[in-house]
Amino acid sequence: MFERFDTPEEIFSYKLGAALSMERQLVGLLGQLEEHAQREEIRHPLAVHREETLQHVANIEHCFTLLDELVHNPPCGVVEALANEGKAMLKKTDDSLADVVIVALASEAEHYEIAVYEALIANADARKATAVAKLLRENLAQEKHALIVARTMMKTILEQGIAVGANA
Ligand SMILES: [Fe+2]
Ligand SMILES: [Fe+2]
Repeated sequence: MFERFDTPEEIFSYKLGAALSMERQLVGLLGQLEEHAQREEIRHPLAVHREETLQHVANIEHCFTLLDELVHNPPCGVVEALANEGKAMLKKTDDSLADVVIVALASEAEHYEIAVYEALIANADARKATAVAKLLRENLAQEKHALIVARTMMKTILEQGIAVGANA
């Protein structure tokens, strides 16, 4: 869409579109992780956050409307790379250990999303796009919460024994 970036607004617009791709790709990735999860304590929070992620997509689409810009979504190479790595690792991992791969991946994705939203919000604030910043802050709050949940998931795994059935 952009041949060159000549204004901060164009960069913001590109990054907002990349965030939209990030969220759309994460809906798929979270679904795949859910399928591979071995424990209900891992599967359920992934399903909850996938639902929230659908709202993140809708919020970003709404941002484009508020900015009176056409929705565009350049591919997000970071989520693609995370998904590829996760897929490759899960293929080689015994099912009993799949959860530890999944939780690490979920945590990495949340850290990335938090960084993306913090930068977008700083830019939205700078251009006084208050309504846009508010929607982005809603997404950021849920990403931060999802990261806390991922830490709890990791604790669960460590307490139960990393391999499923390790303490059985
Ligand atoms: Fe998200
Ligand atoms: Fe997230």
